[in-house]
Amino acid sequence: ASTLGASAAQTGRYFGAAIAAGRLGDATYTGILTREFNSVTPENEMKWDATEPSQGRFTFTNGDRILNQGLSNGSKVRGHALLWHAQQPGWAQSLSGSALRTAAINHVTQVASHYRGKIYAWDVVNEAFADGGSGGRRDSNLQRTGNDWIEAAFRAARAADPGAKLCYNDYNTDGINAKSTGVYTMIRDFKSRGVPIDCVGFQSHLGTSIPGDYQANLQRFADLGVDVQITELDVAQGGNQATIYATVTRACLAVSRCTGITVWGIRDSDSWRTGENPLLFDNSGNRKAAYTSVLNALNAG
Ligand code: G3I
Repeated sequence: ASTLGASAAQTGRYFGAAIAAGRLGDATYTGILTREFNSVTPENEMKWDATEPSQGRFTFTNGDRILNQGLSNGSKVRGHALLWHAQQPGWAQSLSGSALRTAAINHVTQVASHYRGKIYAWDVVNEAFADGGSGGRRDSNLQRTGNDWIEAAFRAARAADPGAKLCYNDYNTDGINAKSTGVYTMIRDFKSRGVPIDCVGFQSHLGTSIPGDYQANLQRFADLGVDVQITELDVAQGGNQATIYATVTRACLAVSRCTGITVWGIRDSDSWRTGENPLLFDNSGNRKAAYTSVLNALNAG
């Protein structure tokens, strides 16, 4: 097939992009979006600060714009992200203990309920593990409410939207390392105790190299009985960019429970990684070598 989405669909997968409501008036941007992608993720619009700017007052205008853009194009919509230590509204940052726990669970319930039946997969909890060698949880206001905050969030999300796949999402978990093993141990525990979890997202914000055990890492999670997804892919532009993109794509295709890939933006100029040119389209919207490399990998099978 001749587009990313249609090529991924040949093996039952999706190929998505993170998109921003503020760019939907840009015809070059939406032209690429509707042509190439069959999944969308809101880059910021469904986060806590965006959806509950003051406690108990929910604003879904921009999140709904992303949702409707995706649904009207026949795309899947990945919800991102119900709970995260970053991009919390100021009022939540100043809460702690049971007041924060109650507010956080209410947030999960209200947002997942608003989008009930419309979301393919939710990043229920984002980036809750620490960097480095500990393999443990990241310190945060949410973590300080008790180690069970993650499972409480997943149970609330399941109750609010039983049809959505519920994911844990993180970065620097793309190879087998202490952090990814910490996540792995949590997922194994959740599966053994019946905590509702369906998928793990691997952000895959990559530099100029990729872990040699990238595919093996996806596979070990899949073997726990969860789907895996590449959720925020971007790769620094260097000599290896096109090759690394192809390696990620082939790894997903080789893991039967890898259901799709999302790139974190459309054109280089849309990326949060200013100056790194990490995406598949250049600033003018032209296909890059990395685009061709992904397309060929998707069609090779
Ligand atoms: O919209 C406001 C604007 O009104 C204001 O004038 C401006 C001044 O700072 O800020 C704008 O908000 C910015 C927002 O992006 C929208 O552009 C925030 O400052 C900025 O912090 C925010 O950055 C986002 C970042 O998450 C926040 O941590 C990036 O766009 C977004 O790509 C990035 O995405 C994260 C994923 O959610 C989780 N994984 C890592 C990934 C990259 O950091």
